Amino acid sequence: MWTNYVDISKLIDYCQKFILEAHIQIQIIKAIDQMQQEAKRLLQTGKAIAFVPTMGYLHEGHLALMREGRKHGDTLIISIFVNPTQFGPAEDFQAYPRDLDRDVRLAESVGVDIIFAPEADAIYDKAYQTYVDLEILPLHLCGPLRPRHFRGVATVVTKLFNIVKPQAAIFGEKDYQQLVIIRRMVRDLNFDIRIIGVPIVREPDGLAMSSRNTYLSEDERRSALSLFQALQQAQKSLAQGMRDARQLISEASEMIRSYPYTKIDYVALCDPETLEDVDRVEGPTLMALAVWVGKTRLIDNAILKP
Ligand code: PAF
Repeated sequence: MWTNYVDISKLIDYCQKFILEAHIQIQIIKAIDQMQQEAKRLLQTGKAIAFVPTMGYLHEGHLALMREGRKHGDTLIISIFVNPTQFGPAEDFQAYPRDLDRDVRLAESVGVDIIFAPEADAIYDKAYQTYVDLEILPLHLCGPLRPRHFRGVATVVTKLFNIVKPQAAIFGEKDYQQLVIIRRMVRDLNFDIRIIGVPIVREPDGLAMSSRNTYLSEDERRSALSLFQALQQAQKSLAQGMRDARQLISEASEMIRSYPYTKIDYVALCDPETLEDVDRVEGPTLMALAVWVGKTRLIDNAILKP
């Protein structure tokens, strides 16, 4: 009886230790050289790295990328870095929501192994002067309205790839133009990395998940639904035989304008690979939207199929 008691108490100790270790398994790395050494060590032991770059303030959309990431590597690394070079001077870099403790808990819940969370001055030191810039894809959609945004994205993603050394990297289709640009950049610069796109994750009422949704007031949140409604309207009109891009765009724009607080940056119909505008929708076509709802700029998109 006494022996049994000792065994059980040992078992409890063991279980507690196991639970504690499982809980602190996630590793947070802040130094670039430490991340590079850890990536090299993993690769030397034959472990494939899957990577999800993020700017933090994680939501279900990010977690879907991480769940997908688990399928593409033995070790899942995410980065949390609000990248200053992709924000314009009048944009929300300072206000961008940040909460590392919350992000660590969420990342843990989907089995992330390592969070790389560098400081901005380590990524861009005082003498920093090298940028990755694509020539044509950034001329479309958000590019002209957010000058240098995609230069900032392509540069930081290149740097993160060099630091984290992944074999696969996962990006959301919500930032559709970003995904097309990264795929092109990876091809152009011969990165040996598979780029995996993950479909948009939506709230039950259709609003595409975004860290910026937290800026919306209750009334604005209702108006934000206009983006999804416009995409649905376009798909419906297409199914009814409407093929003219101008007509489809004008109908979608009217739908958005019928909601208060909205101001359209663009409603576009374009080729899903080149992002060039189309006149008629004859095959799978990207409808992309950028709309201000109050002081928050939201984007959304769908591939429309006739
Ligand atoms: O999509 C994002 O969150 C960012 O643009 C990225 C890819 C992490 C680069 O900063």
